Amino acid sequence: MDKYKLIEKLQEMLNYEYTDVFIYNTEAELLENKIKNGAKLKSLYKNFALDELTHAEIISKKILDLKEKPIWEYKNFLVSKSVRESLKFHIEREIKAIRSYQELIENITDREFKIKLKGIKNDEEEHLKQITDFLNNLR
Ligand SMILES: [Fe+2]
Ligand SMILES: [Fe+2]
Repeated sequence: MDKYKLIEKLQEMLNYEYTDVFIYNTEAELLENKIKNGAKLKSLYKNFALDELTHAEIISKKILDLKEKPIWEYKNFLVSKSVRESLKFHIEREIKAIRSYQELIENITDREFKIKLKGIKNDEEEHLKQITDFLNNLR
């Protein structure tokens, strides 16, 4: 992958991560009182938001290392009003993130950055697992 393609892809992931920070944080507050164990959902989402912020910072730093200016923008998504809808939405987004990071890992040669991306991907897999478990326990 050439440098410009990589920067483009990194900007895309920065936008994705930053968007997730907002959605998780907003929904953590919004959905807390909608279910019996809402406090658990809230702390789960708050922790995920922190992870996504860390991911965004790693990506942002890499863009800077490549002598480009990271653009911290997020997509203005409608947040989910139901817990179930929210969990399903995040399952889809986490799967997409895992796919994107896997693709990136396969297409770069920078070993040090590869290790960092693998760490991020592991986090997303953990998010996916915990959200899936939470959804299954709702039934
Ligand atoms: Fe992330
Ligand atoms: Fe995630």
